[in-house]
Amino acid sequence: MNDERKEISITIIKAGEVNIVKTYLHQYRNLMVLLNNSIYLENFGECGGQGRCATCMVKAVGLKGNATTMERNEAATIGKARLADEAIRLSCQLLINEDLNGAVIEIAGDEF
Ligand code: FES
Repeated sequence: MNDERKEISITIIKAGEVNIVKTYLHQYRNLMVLLNNSIYLENFGECGGQGRCATCMVKAVGLKGNATTMERNEAATIGKARLADEAIRLSCQLLINEDLNGAVIEIAGDEF
C-alpha cells in the first residue's frame, strides 16, 4: 500500500470522552492542527505551532520512532510549565505520520 494512503489511527481523549480519529500522511501539518480541526478546542495552539505558547500541550502515550524525541524548543517550553510527566508533549511539534499510528492523545486540562 502506498504510504500516502496508509491510514493513521489516533485515539483522542478529551474530558473523558474517547474519539478515534483516522487520518493520512500529510493530511494535517501536525497534531495540533488535526486536533483543532477534529475537536472544538478553545485557546488551543495560540502561537500557530512555533513551540512557544504551550497551549497545545497533550499527554501522548504510544508514540514511536522520531516522535519519541523532543526538539530543544519543545523541551524548553514544556520545562517552563514545570510538569513532571514525561508523556506531556506539544502537539504542534508532532508530525502526522506512522509514528503516531495507534497513539493515545489526552487533551491537556487542569489535571496536568
Ligand atoms: S501551538 Fe504554541 S506551543 Fe504549540
